Amino acid sequence: MTFIIASELRKTYTPRGADPVHALDGLNLEVPQGTIKALLGPNGAGKTTTVKVLTTLTKPDSGRATIGGVDVLASPERIRPIIGVSGQYAAVDENLTGFENLDMVGRLYHLGSRASRARATELIELFDLTEAQNRPVKGFSGGMRRRIDLAGALVSRPQVLFLDEPTTGLDPRSRLGMWDIIQALVGEGTTVLLTTQYLEEADQLSDSISVIDDGKVIAEGTSDELKASIGGQRVEISLVNAGDSAVAQEVLARVGSAAPTVSDDGRELTVNAAAAPAALREVLGEFERLGIPLYDAGMRRPTLDDVFLTLTGHMATDDEEVAA
Ligand SMILES: Nc1ncnc2c1ncn2[C@@H]1O[C@H](COP(=O)(O)OP(=O)(O)O)[C@@H](O)[C@H]1O
Ligand SMILES: [Mg+2]
Repeated sequence: MTFIIASELRKTYTPRGADPVHALDGLNLEVPQGTIKALLGPNGAGKTTTVKVLTTLTKPDSGRATIGGVDVLASPERIRPIIGVSGQYAAVDENLTGFENLDMVGRLYHLGSRASRARATELIELFDLTEAQNRPVKGFSGGMRRRIDLAGALVSRPQVLFLDEPTTGLDPRSRLGMWDIIQALVGEGTTVLLTTQYLEEADQLSDSISVIDDGKVIAEGTSDELKASIGGQRVEISLVNAGDSAVAQEVLARVGSAAPTVSDDGRELTVNAAAAPAALREVLGEFERLGIPLYDAGMRRPTLDDVFLTLTGHMATDDEEVAA
């Protein structure tokens, strides 16, 4: 069963004295029950705006959305009890302890003091926060903060969980821990909509991915489907000397089906080639003839990075230093 449906969502912001921004420009989404959908897109793509609309925090200018058959825009009061949200606008009280924060959320959901405290204890254990539970949140590390915030979203045992960039800014170990927790939740039947700028995260966690850019979905499918959709294999070389970059680009352009992509330092070059083994042989022969030393050379299947680059012309994590 499709649990979350968004159709043709539009939202335009018109900041004073600036051009209008089409944060959502006809966005469509469908998330089956008990699955995890990744909304993958760069900074400013419209991920947070989508989450805000679906969690009743923002009204779109037009479009429709339902969760479990309930109209999000017409009946927000029926949506709030069945959803949990954790994300960039984390709502923890800095001065309360980890335990107190969770207990407070329980009271807000009218759990009653005994049930609320029991749920807080359960979540503290689940999230491995036992040692930190009696310390104020203001002393928590980034990873602990994310965990307490996610725990807060789970107090009411929501059917649907919205996670807005749950691992942005976390160190690799905390990120893996967060992935485990998210996977366990989906295993228990929770439907999850997760936003991320990390291709690897979408690849690892999700049942399906919607790639979004400029407020709309530009591609959709499992990560394998997305990779297959751009086709071909990649021939990739790494130069010893950046000074050889221009010549190397010419060589790769001859065997590839499109212009090669080049790293900022000019030393890593990649090109899409239909017959990669033959292309690689030709490239190696050519470099040998020209006397250009190579650090590394090989062929590989496309990654989600290639998908993103092919679809949008830019990388997902190109940081344009947009103010958050
Ligand atoms: N309250 C707002 N006022 C003006 N512009 C906004 C507001 N919220 C978001 N935007 C703009 O809408 C676009 C989409 O933002 P957002 O949904 O936050 O993207 P993402 O979460 O993918 O980074 C961006 O260009 C952003 O600057
Ligand atoms: Mg965002």
